[in-house]
Amino acid sequence: MWSLAVVWISSLLVSAQAQGTASFWKGNDRSGRCQYSFTVDSPKEASCPSAGTGPEMEALKSRLGLLEVLVARLAGGEAPGTVAGAGLKEAYSQAMREKTQLQREKDRLGQQVNELQLRVTELQKEAERLRSRPCPQVPSPSVPQHDSGLRPGTGPALSHLVSRPGRTQEDTSSLRDPSWQYSSLGYQELKAEVAEVPASSPEATEDNTGCGELLSVGEPVSHRKADNIGGRYGVWMQDPEPVTPYDTGMVWRIDTVGSDVRQLFGYENMEQLSRGFPTKVLLLPEAVESTGATMYRGSLYYQRRRSRTLIRYDLASESVAARRDLPHAGFHGQFPYSWGGYTDIDFAVDEEGLWVIYSTNKAKGAIVLSQLDPHSLEVKRSWETNIRKTTVANAFVICGRLYTVASYTSPNTTVNYSFDTTNSQSKAISVPFKNRHRYNSMIDYNPVQRKLFAWDNYHIVSYDVRLGKQQ
Ligand SMILES: *[C@@H]1O[C@H](CO)[C@@H](O)[C@H](O)[C@H]1NC(C)=O
Ligand SMILES: *[C@@H]1O[C@H](CO)[C@@H](O)[C@H](O)[C@H]1NC(C)=O
Repeated sequence: MWSLAVVWISSLLVSAQAQGTASFWKGNDRSGRCQYSFTVDSPKEASCPSAGTGPEMEALKSRLGLLEVLVARLAGGEAPGTVAGAGLKEAYSQAMREKTQLQREKDRLGQQVNELQLRVTELQKEAERLRSRPCPQVPSPSVPQHDSGLRPGTGPALSHLVSRPGRTQEDTSSLRDPSWQYSSLGYQELKAEVAEVPASSPEATEDNTGCGELLSVGEPVSHRKADNIGGRYGVWMQDPEPVTPYDTGMVWRIDTVGSDVRQLFGYENMEQLSRGFPTKVLLLPEAVESTGATMYRGSLYYQRRRSRTLIRYDLASESVAARRDLPHAGFHGQFPYSWGGYTDIDFAVDEEGLWVIYSTNKAKGAIVLSQLDPHSLEVKRSWETNIRKTTVANAFVICGRLYTVASYTSPNTTVNYSFDTTNSQSKAISVPFKNRHRYNSMIDYNPVQRKLFAWDNYHIVSYDVRLGKQQ
């Protein structure tokens, strides 16, 4: 059958040759396969324009010619002899040339496949990069559309939400509490007096392992910019002494804009925080007040909204493990930091344990620092300082010393006061501190990272710190 077909084609070719209007070409079909096409005009259609002939046409013609000779001999029953042998040899070497040609074609296509694979990899990287960038969102005064039914208190099944790694930001933003009241944004935002204090850092010997006085604060490093108005203020933290199932890499975040803040986002590591992919979303049973929360020994410590109640929320059991009123503490705008935001009660963790920074009527608004029992939340010991809480932008504790920052808006400000709990001595200092984004709503020390964690106008930032040698 095959030989007959060849004869048929070659005779067509011969007749086409007579007309001089045969054509041959190759190209890729729609599925990308290499397709060889062969066309012979019928004598009646000789008016149709035809593609020109080329070297490939010549090669095919000669091959077909040889095959024709061979087929004719075999079909005629001619005994294999020298002539037929020569024909076979020629046909064989022709076939080998074809094979070489096809091999080259295959190599060329293989190279194209490699190039395409490289391009695909590049595009995947690009897509990843784009996905990791925050979606542009226009702050809207309207209440978000999603009423996902996740309103707190609608049922126990909603008290615990786990998101898969790789959830998109859109997914998690749909988990946000729809009851935000954007109208309350202006609350307690007092104007800060900006004071520039000449920058000078005290010369002292450095100690990267032990405790000591704060010598300097590095440049702020931005890890993530919150993607909507809900992230203008917030608190982010890493547990210096984490408890299973979480490890030291885990990063936690609460966006604190709104009147009913309950969502605690967990990220496997800093990279996932930067990409905006939480692996855990917990819905807290009691609303959070402001940016004072902290994470310590497997628990989230925070002030319950509109109260002086301190709450210890255990991450492993996902439930409240302890609650206690902080005696006489002002709350809800009585003694906030200078930026307002109901920052009356601020937790802190350092090398020496768990602290709370606040004020009372008895202290007449001066900062009170109390060390807490991390299990029961009982006050173990308290110190009254001589600096008014409402005049400082923020405060943090390092190695048993309280430090306060002068301004939350000035890009060049200072840490200008310290209070040492070992001798109850306070001191004016001047350690330069930068509010790069000009609205710093949270500053906490992390004793394991040896960094200050801050939330500056949508930006989740950290600062390296240098400490001196303990005297
Ligand atoms: C620190 O700066 C604040 C704000 O400018 C100012 O009110 C305060 O007096 C300063 N404190 C010290 C100890 O210099
Ligand atoms: C901030 O201080 C640095 C030096 O510490 C200075 O170079 C810079 O100009 C200052 N920026 C502003 C905005 O004052």
